[in-house]
Amino acid sequence: MTPFTESFKAEFYRLLESRKSIRKFKSQPVPEEVLQRILQAGMQAPSGKNRQNWRFFVLEGKKRDDYLSLSQKSWLGIKDILEKRLKPSLYQFTERFFFTLGDAPVVILCYSINDQEERYHTSIGSVYMAVENINLACFAEGLGCCTMGAPLEIKEDVDRFIGADQLPEYKEGKLELLCAVVLGYPDHEPPKAPRQIEGRIVRLR
Ligand SMILES: Cc1cc2nc3c(=O)[nH]c(=O)nc-3n(C[C@H](O)[C@H](O)[C@H](O)COP(=O)(O)O)c2cc1C
Repeated sequence: MTPFTESFKAEFYRLLESRKSIRKFKSQPVPEEVLQRILQAGMQAPSGKNRQNWRFFVLEGKKRDDYLSLSQKSWLGIKDILEKRLKPSLYQFTERFFFTLGDAPVVILCYSINDQEERYHTSIGSVYMAVENINLACFAEGLGCCTMGAPLEIKEDVDRFIGADQLPEYKEGKLELLCAVVLGYPDHEPPKAPRQIEGRIVRLR
């Protein structure tokens, strides 16, 4: 493979460092070709035994609008914990985010097809590799996104909402919701969440 140029490498690391969760979006729609590139980027991820066991359900338009009532329901499951943890202003912002999804025009529900004995070894990790690719592709495209574990509070509702519960792999107990990614053009510039380096890496020689 041809080595990447120094300027590409610098831009690549800038992309990693500048990615941050976006929770407020413009109403501007995401062009189809951009969304296609982002989804393709997800599917370039590595996966255990190359099973490519991700399944993405992409909500737009009315389906995305209807999903808001589920997002609001997921808030009920976590609001008490967050009320104790967050400053009132951040709590209110987060509540609003769950009620509106920051007006994100696209919601990707990310599922894993699990082989029972593979579930922890590879199945879940492979999907999250794809989710990170999606995050980075969004930023490279000038979009923003936020990965959300909150829909897991209402897993069965989400499964029914998209009809996943009717699929044979679901009936076999293999199809599992892992997270949502909401995305669109950013309408705020949140500060970078600080990273802690200390104690995170142990090097042994
Ligand atoms: C698996 C996972 C689940 C997350 N779930 C939520 C969520 O439900 N709601 C939310 O607002 N942010 C969620 N986030 C975003 C994190 O809060 C965010 O990544 C973290 O605070 C670091 O900030 P940054 O993404 O801006 O660097 C989630 C992130 C990950 C990786």
